[in-house]
Amino acid sequence: MNVLHVCANPKPTEESVSKQLAAAFFGKLIELKPDVELVNVNLYDEKPPFYSYELYRGVWNPVFDEEYEPTKVEDMATNYASKQAELFNEADVLVLTMPMWNFGVPAIMKAWIDQVLCPGLTFDISKEDGVQPLHKIKSVVLLVASGGVYKEDDDRDALTRQARHAFDFIGIDDIEIVWAEGQNPLFFDDCDERKELALEAAGEIAEDIADLDLSEPEGVEATAE
Ligand SMILES: Cc1cc2nc3c(=O)[nH]c(=O)nc-3n(C[C@H](O)[C@H](O)[C@H](O)COP(=O)(O)O)c2cc1C
Repeated sequence: MNVLHVCANPKPTEESVSKQLAAAFFGKLIELKPDVELVNVNLYDEKPPFYSYELYRGVWNPVFDEEYEPTKVEDMATNYASKQAELFNEADVLVLTMPMWNFGVPAIMKAWIDQVLCPGLTFDISKEDGVQPLHKIKSVVLLVASGGVYKEDDDRDALTRQARHAFDFIGIDDIEIVWAEGQNPLFFDDCDERKELALEAAGEIAEDIADLDLSEPEGVEATAE
């Protein structure tokens, strides 16, 4: 099993609840599946560029014009995206670790998603066939911490909503979420209990991921003439 772990948190683990969720998740996953191939991308070490006009032309122009050849500059603008897309396409499972910032994903994580979810890199798109995945990711796991508490479908939560829709668009509908809510001790006396519950949930989701069926769906058998 290949797992790509992308982390968008500048804090050390002892100060970051979401990174502690990641430690619990991977501790359990590696215990259950010691042969897991784990690739870590720390976005603060490998900062994604913001989406540029050249990247836009480089990846989208070929969608509308089969003959289109990216210029050298456009080609270079796809460097970060291409490298990350390669890691993405090798993965069976994607794990995203992050805090909630201003009700959504941190800007550095959004920049990474914008780079990676590009036509020709992680999916193909056409009028005839719609969106066709170029990746084989079966499941995305979000490991999230927030100061406040958001019940399911809370209108303020743009984070899980955005992640769900972005990955669903490229054919991944299995999104597992471990969320340590109420981590602001000023407002939540029970923030430690909430964290403990989320750490337990991280272990449980790791068990589910360890059991994930990675076999390809069987093709339709040819009928004998
Ligand atoms: C810039 C910034 C914005 C934040 N925005 C929100 C927010 O919109 N909603 C919320 O519940 N908590 C918000 N918080 C609180 C964090 O989500 C909370 O501290 C969480 O534990 C951070 O995760 P970490 O411990 O892994 O760093 C914000 C914190 C920062 C620094």
